[in-house]
Amino acid sequence: MRAWVVDGAFGLDRLTQVGRPDVEPGPGEVRLRVRAVSLNYRDVLMVRGLYDPRQALPLVPCSDASGVIDAVGEGVTGLTVGARVCPIFAQDWLSGDAERSMLRSTLGGPRDGTLRQSMVVPANAVVRVPDHLTDEEAATLPCAGVTAWRALVTMGGLKAGDTVLTQGTGGVSCFVTQIGAMFGARVIVTSSSDAKLERVRALGAAHGINYKTEPQWGKAATAWTGGRGVDHVIELGGAGTLDETLRAVRVGGTVTLLGILAGAKVELNLTRVFMNAVRVQGLMVGHRADFEALLRALDANHDVRPVVDKVFDFDDAPAAFAHLAAAGHVGKVVVRLP
Ligand SMILES: NC(=O)c1ccc[n+]([C@@H]2O[C@H](COP(=O)([O-])OP(=O)(O)OC[C@H]3O[C@@H](n4cnc5c(N)ncnc54)[C@H](OP(=O)(O)O)[C@@H]3O)[C@@H](O)[C@H]2O)c1
Repeated sequence: MRAWVVDGAFGLDRLTQVGRPDVEPGPGEVRLRVRAVSLNYRDVLMVRGLYDPRQALPLVPCSDASGVIDAVGEGVTGLTVGARVCPIFAQDWLSGDAERSMLRSTLGGPRDGTLRQSMVVPANAVVRVPDHLTDEEAATLPCAGVTAWRALVTMGGLKAGDTVLTQGTGGVSCFVTQIGAMFGARVIVTSSSDAKLERVRALGAAHGINYKTEPQWGKAATAWTGGRGVDHVIELGGAGTLDETLRAVRVGGTVTLLGILAGAKVELNLTRVFMNAVRVQGLMVGHRADFEALLRALDANHDVRPVVDKVFDFDDAPAAFAHLAAAGHVGKVVVRLP
């Protein structure tokens, strides 16, 4: 089988296609014939050596895929050849609070990831894909979809009438917008581009703010809520956006801190956090049970479909990385396998 690896040194220009032997699944394992892989910003950071500079190489990048089971190991029940599944992001984290070791079981670093034709995973580390989703759509779910679900629903306790603010129009943000709208929340999206804001309005965003032309977007968001502030801010920018986020969030509201698009280190005036009793909550994707809950929600709401910006062929995977890194996309960038 063919696989993309980053080898020798980090860098998008170090992505190389190699041949690897097909592996038979052992007891309790299944083998997937991978059909589609989606990219996350994390994958770009990982390949560039910016996510974990100590990551051992060679590494097969990417955490997200959909595929078909083509071999089943001894003792596996409930999964048969032909089942369409996605591997879960943190392979050992099935439910409940994660142990540190579970958060080290993630695909695409430290474990070899999904950008290959075939992979063997534990049978309990896959979830079944609803029939109505295409392979490309299903492949967008394991990281970005589950993250948005966990931030808003599992941890956020989202309810109708809440106001949510999400930053940018990438993979996580589009899912936040769609899930927010699904729950009857009002979603504010910030973006560098008015054209992109138009596109997310079609996903159910109630309001858009261009953070280039409105640098005080936190203040603008609060004004849009009539002065109350936003219930849930999904913080994707990190260092460069947190200050404005603390202007946007309501007294007693929640900031779910999960991204570092605008840097990881910040000098911050903490007064606003305690004066406004803000809950700042970190988050690391989610577990298998979160993924299953998301799939049930999508199965009950067929009109909510993952946003696929562009699909690349397997041989063009480096161009897919470059496309994501250039940040011209809305939603998810996907690689299709032959
Ligand atoms: N902790 C976790 O569990 C977890 C899980 C998933 C993702 N993440 C993180 O979440 C972030 C987003 O991931 P993703 O895969 O959705 O990314 P993505 O698809 O690459 O989306 C990036 C988009 O964010 C916007 N953006 C870029 N710089 C920005 C800035 N300074 N301020 C506001 N928006 C900015 C841009 O959209 P516009 O042009 O529209 O502004 C850009 O296209 C990344 O930092 C990623 O590592 C964390």
